[in-house]
Amino acid sequence: MNMVNKYYITTPIYYVNDKPHIGHAYTTLACDVIARFKKLDGYDVHFLTGTDEFGQKIERSAKKNGKGTQEFVDNLVPSFVNMMKMMDIQYDDFIRTTQRRHTDFVQKMWGIMLDKGDIYLDKYCGWYSIRDEAFYAESELVNGKAPTGADVEWVEEESYFFKLSMWQDKLLEFYDSNPDFIMPESKRNEVISFVKSGLRDLSISRTSTMWGIPVPNNNKHVMYVWLDALFNYISALTNPKDLYSKFWPCDLHIIGKDILRFHAVYWPAFLMSVDLPLPKKIFAHGWWTNNGEKISKSLGNTIDPIDLINKFGVDYVRYYMMREISFGNDGNYMEENFISRVNSELANNIGNLSQRVLSFVYKNCDGKIPQYGDFQTVDVELFDDMYNVINLMKDAIDEQAINCAIGVVFDLGKKANLYVDKQAPWQLKKEDIVRMNTVLYVLCECIRIIALLLQPFVPKSAKILLDNLGLVNEVNGVKFICCNKDFTIKVGTSIPEPIIVFNRL
Ligand code: MSP
Repeated sequence: MNMVNKYYITTPIYYVNDKPHIGHAYTTLACDVIARFKKLDGYDVHFLTGTDEFGQKIERSAKKNGKGTQEFVDNLVPSFVNMMKMMDIQYDDFIRTTQRRHTDFVQKMWGIMLDKGDIYLDKYCGWYSIRDEAFYAESELVNGKAPTGADVEWVEEESYFFKLSMWQDKLLEFYDSNPDFIMPESKRNEVISFVKSGLRDLSISRTSTMWGIPVPNNNKHVMYVWLDALFNYISALTNPKDLYSKFWPCDLHIIGKDILRFHAVYWPAFLMSVDLPLPKKIFAHGWWTNNGEKISKSLGNTIDPIDLINKFGVDYVRYYMMREISFGNDGNYMEENFISRVNSELANNIGNLSQRVLSFVYKNCDGKIPQYGDFQTVDVELFDDMYNVINLMKDAIDEQAINCAIGVVFDLGKKANLYVDKQAPWQLKKEDIVRMNTVLYVLCECIRIIALLLQPFVPKSAKILLDNLGLVNEVNGVKFICCNKDFTIKVGTSIPEPIIVFNRL
């Protein structure tokens, strides 16, 4: 029996019509945190991201910039790769939809759908928004615009259709028997009522652009960009190695709430049509606003993740983005909140704990992790809290409650700081050296646990913390966070003079 604990997680693939913004950074970061945690927890993880390069939206931006479309996307992809590098994202694969592995695979899927009788040729008349790359029914328009506020245009053209209407009941049955498929729950309810209201067949080809994957055997048509894009989650598993049998079905697609309908309705219907298993979960997160205003290029209030990193450093940006919003809800970027959160939670709490404890150990214990004596009830209570935090974090990550996952570390830091104040090692130094050493030992172990658990969120700072504990080459996996004596911090380990880990902003 194959008992490999595998985990496949994906970001949406990003339109390369402009440089990356906070939305791209946010979705990718959430996946990175979960992927890093799962890796620490011993899973064989595959984390996929990439770029969505076809469609009219991109063709139009290329034209505006006076560039050929291929040249235009080729020039923009590096800015996405660079943003991910700057954000310290550890993806396992990066797919571009213009790659051969993708176009070949999608054409094969088209052939299967056609052979099954799920695709037919007809004429499309209706509204289309190039910005959203989406078709809208007359009844969905608000003051002549798409519900997203995007402009729409009237389209009349020959088009292939996918028999989406045929899958309505199957989809509803699937949602019913897989209550975790769409999360958060409010989003699941929205999708169910949308599907219940009736599905119309979906136009899946265009003749008004040639920037798309050619429809096999009809060179007048290219595929609708969303049909092609969704299949990236599987086409990426076909090459360079065949990873399909290991990683499909996907464990988690993380997406923004604006693209839920494509993922929770169209994607499962396409998969049912080609007889492939459905992903296990789709989690739709909320949107950032900037000082209370919707972020948009026309308002000139976009937030460039690279500017934030240059100003505050990558770990603070990662921490703030993951901690500020309860994952799934909308959130509001405000610099004051950014600064006060970093100062109170990282600098004053965890940074202060490690600095005061480790510089005290460095000065008073000969630069070594001290020998402990008998543990008292307060010590055992703190040990229990430390080892329990890992279970709390596992549960939070499995529910994508990323902000709560960080919260448990922060709470542990608070408890440890209270313990320092109460035990007052500086006082014990004058009265009871054995007790002082015991207290310091407990605290060093606590800082070790905190450092290990912070790795998925603030990897660079977690490494400094581990270095401060003299644990440079230790194994940093979650399974090492347990009270087994083989893994707890070793008495006598030399520690360097500690470096301040979280400077105040
Ligand atoms: N190309 C499609 C996805 C295809 S997946 C098969 C697409 N690309 S996108 O570049 O427009 O958007 C990517 C992601 O950024 C979406 O998940 C979207 O929700 C997210 N965000 C865009 N603006 C955002 C905010 N202001 N806040 C948070 N995330 C937002 O859609």
